[in-house]
Amino acid sequence: MPPVPVLTTLDTDRLLLRRQTVSDAAILRQLWTERDVRVPPHRQIDAEGRPSEADIATRIREEHTAPGLLAVERKDTADVIGYCGLVFNAEGAPDEPELAFELLRAVHNRGYATEASRAVITWAGQAGYRRLWASVWDWNVASRRVLEKLGFRDSGRVGPTTVHGRSLLTVRES
Ligand SMILES: CC(C)(COP(=O)(O)OP(=O)(O)OC[C@H]1O[C@@H](n2cnc3c(N)ncnc32)[C@H](O)[C@@H]1OP(=O)(O)O)[C@@H](O)C(=O)NCCC(=O)NCCS
Repeated sequence: MPPVPVLTTLDTDRLLLRRQTVSDAAILRQLWTERDVRVPPHRQIDAEGRPSEADIATRIREEHTAPGLLAVERKDTADVIGYCGLVFNAEGAPDEPELAFELLRAVHNRGYATEASRAVITWAGQAGYRRLWASVWDWNVASRRVLEKLGFRDSGRVGPTTVHGRSLLTVRES
């Protein structure tokens, strides 16, 4: 079998996408604190304040984070603003990864998620991943709009409806 291509670095007009490092832990924890209250509890900071920045640093150091989720850095200011990339073995089949992105609130609506995702999608196409998936909560209008701009369409598969909303599964074929 040919080796599985690994996503490590991508370059766009305004952004550099690179492997996460321990020094990204503070920003990644800030993302946890900024999550919508409708995001399920396992993706929220718990009553003990976990995961802490140290917990997140440990996950990165011990490579317990998804390797295809890259830190997104702005080129002009060299600050990390979130992550974007691919999660393998999520929805769909193992060779049909899931696109994921999350950015700090302070930088929303400047086209960064779309720009970063386009680079990831181009990489995926070149690496031979012809079908990508993305799951999104029905109430997440910003994310749904990004996915629409990127050419994802409703797969017709709907996840369970929970107190957190309805999870929609979208798909993109290249
Ligand atoms: C989803 C997310 C990554 C988008 O990042 P971003 O850099 O702001 O995205 P972009 O600027 O590329 O595009 C956002 C689009 O959503 C639209 N949008 C944002 N808020 C909106 C709202 N409340 N109602 C309707 N449209 C909205 C913007 O107008 C823009 O569309 P446009 O280019 O047609 O004007 C960001 O909102 C985020 O990190 N959210 C929290 C984490 C998350 O939801 N991750 C995805 C899980 S599936």
